[in-house]
Amino acid sequence: MDVLVDLARHVLVPVVVVDDAADAPALGDALVAGGLPVAEVTFRTAAAPDAIRALAARGDVLVGAGTVLTPRQVDTAVAAGARYVVAPGTSRAVVERCAEHGVAVLPGAVTATEVQAALELGVTTVKFFPAGTSGGAAAIAALAAPFRDVRFVPTGGVGPGNLHEYLALPCVTAVGGSWMVPRDLVAARAHHALRTLVADAVALADS
Ligand code: 3PG
Repeated sequence: MDVLVDLARHVLVPVVVVDDAADAPALGDALVAGGLPVAEVTFRTAAAPDAIRALAARGDVLVGAGTVLTPRQVDTAVAAGARYVVAPGTSRAVVERCAEHGVAVLPGAVTATEVQAALELGVTTVKFFPAGTSGGAAAIAALAAPFRDVRFVPTGGVGPGNLHEYLALPCVTAVGGSWMVPRDLVAARAHHALRTLVADAVALADS
């Protein structure tokens, strides 16, 4: 799907927790100014749908919904303008509802059994979550041997110190993380600090 191609082009997926949807404009400005107009807004706060709506409405940020656990949340996310849906695990119900909406979905998978389950649901790009505690880059490389057509988006415990371990793998199309959009800075609408973190992350990924 085109959205997955776009995510792969950006390489990095900022995973964000928004406490107040009114913080979304400043977040969007910082992402765009920092050169990474992408956000995975997690359904960990009640503000998520309105934050997605605000980011989607501006038209210059590729907005997705993260931590999506139920088909109902898929409906809410898509109605708010999410272009892709990310789930921590491989849920048949979530994947099927995404297919009904025609929206891209990245379900979580960290074992061979989970990857196979995702493949059976028609998914070939999975979120490898939580990456750090699931074996990291070595585990992804091992899974890529039998699953040659599967692409991974490691997230969870990824940061500047280990980013390149993941990006070095051909099967890794993008990497997600919250390090460039810390929750407290988003809540503080700390535009300059956020923009700097985002720009630094982009520069590091490019290096
Ligand atoms: C996620 O939902 O993808 C993770 O919570 C992000 O993990 P991180 O905070 O370790 O980057």
